[in-house]
Amino acid sequence: MKLTPDQQAMLAGDRGAAKQMAMRLLVDLGTAAEAPRLVPVVAAHVSGVSPLTGGHGLITFLKALGSDARVAVETTLNSAGCDSRCWREMGATADYVARQKRILDAYAQLGVRLTLSCTPYEATAAPLPDGVGAWAESNAVCYANSYTGLRTNRDSGLSALAAAICGCTPDYGLLRDEHRAANLLVEVECELAEPVDFSVLGDWVGKQLPPGLALPWGPVPHFRGVGAASHESRKALSAAAANYGCALLYLDEPPAADYRATLRFTAAELAARYAELAPRHRVDLVVIGCPQASPGEVRVAAELVRGRTLPAGRLWVFTAARHWDALRDEVAAIEAAGGMVLRDTCPEVVHYDRACVNHILTNSLKAEHYLQSGLNSMPTSVAPLADCIAHAADPALTGDGRASASSGASPHAATHRSAKAPQAGELSLTGSGIESQDAWVIEGEALVTDVPLTFLGFVNRRTGVVEEPGHPLDGQSIAGRVLVFPRGSGSSVAPYVLLGLLYRDRGPLAVVNTALDQQTLPACSLLGVPYAHSFDADPCLALNSGDRVRLELRDGAVALEVLARGLKA
Ligand code: F3S
Repeated sequence: MKLTPDQQAMLAGDRGAAKQMAMRLLVDLGTAAEAPRLVPVVAAHVSGVSPLTGGHGLITFLKALGSDARVAVETTLNSAGCDSRCWREMGATADYVARQKRILDAYAQLGVRLTLSCTPYEATAAPLPDGVGAWAESNAVCYANSYTGLRTNRDSGLSALAAAICGCTPDYGLLRDEHRAANLLVEVECELAEPVDFSVLGDWVGKQLPPGLALPWGPVPHFRGVGAASHESRKALSAAAANYGCALLYLDEPPAADYRATLRFTAAELAARYAELAPRHRVDLVVIGCPQASPGEVRVAAELVRGRTLPAGRLWVFTAARHWDALRDEVAAIEAAGGMVLRDTCPEVVHYDRACVNHILTNSLKAEHYLQSGLNSMPTSVAPLADCIAHAADPALTGDGRASASSGASPHAATHRSAKAPQAGELSLTGSGIESQDAWVIEGEALVTDVPLTFLGFVNRRTGVVEEPGHPLDGQSIAGRVLVFPRGSGSSVAPYVLLGLLYRDRGPLAVVNTALDQQTLPACSLLGVPYAHSFDADPCLALNSGDRVRLELRDGAVALEVLARGLKA
């Protein structure tokens, strides 16, 4: 990859330790993705704010950046782990709030704007600039690529921050025209009436993806037949589609298309999903605003509660601080009815008091996806906004039975399909390393899956044990093993979980991905964990868990051989 003199100076350490660390990460990412150069970014959006999601890895990393680190471009920050005005009412502890403050102070010192919003396309008054961005936060990435003139890859929190510090990002993936062709045709053959219908559609597409479909930059669906969609509906669609790695979608005719599959979404699919998602037990809490609610959504919620009296603690509406400030009447109406309008935070990253909250109802499939994951393991149902408000007003609407966190299968079970079979015999594969790692030799026991893995929600951040029912690695520890998986799935905060595990000595010995994984490479680059990718055959299918393997990096190439076969697939 060709670097400018200034970029070379950063890499050499002439611009300080933080820029050197950040530039090394960008060069590792860029060379692995075969980017020809680094291009200037006009805006960055950084995720990894809550002590609940970023946790120990994030706090330790921000401290390690040092006091001379600064961002070089306009950089906004994702939602935090609580609303500092009313953390007691939210059930947060003083210790949690203190940890949150430490994280926010560290970002402020870097020069990051504390917008604390996952909707950077709404969070400031200034219009979004056209050009190249480095955004983490999957809903925002999909929104920007799909509806605005800002292009961005699906950065991890770490790579977005590195780009913000250096002012540039590798020119690869969705920044390039040739990777922006639609690869999935979705024929929408029913009427979509309100934002939650679009949310159901976006999530449904991810669940239908045939296993083994090679989509290097994720699904890029063209939704044909949708017609006009409001801002809130478009936002709901892109956020839910992002649940399964979609970072770009088209509502109008795409500039180019290479359809690898065609899906049909009919009224029957919509009705079936609503039936599956409907609440069957007593609803303890209704959350609205994932992504954080737009002014239009706050107004509708205010209208729906006007004249009602909700029992205390049953309705939380999440929005950006900017909207909260501008909508005092609507905020007052919701709070007068008994709800709370929370700013700066999000339903996924807050602390829930499980003594009182054991079943959530929402109008967002993104909230449902993440609330049910291992991070919260919260039984969650979905309904249109008016129904959500009706449940907030009447706790007895679905009877008094309590939902149980352990009663259901994983909400991701349908996507945990494995095609692995036990392998025998000799094996040697050749793959690639990363630029900052010169030479290493690793011998160890492989832990292998062909099902995508996300560190946030699937892996216990203290023990390194995979805790995701239905996942082939459920119950197994990644600590000290050669971890082999196709790619990361899920949150852009996942690298901080991996960092935290590595800081605690519960991380993998080495990581092998089928192809470059934007969510896993950054932590390996930062902490020098041996990382290999892009082999001549798929290591996820060619290796068994329990195989004893040897990996050697020399001259940029990684040789992988099996020393002894294990017994399991
Ligand atoms: Fe935003 Fe949190 Fe939802 S970051 S998109 S409100 S999960």
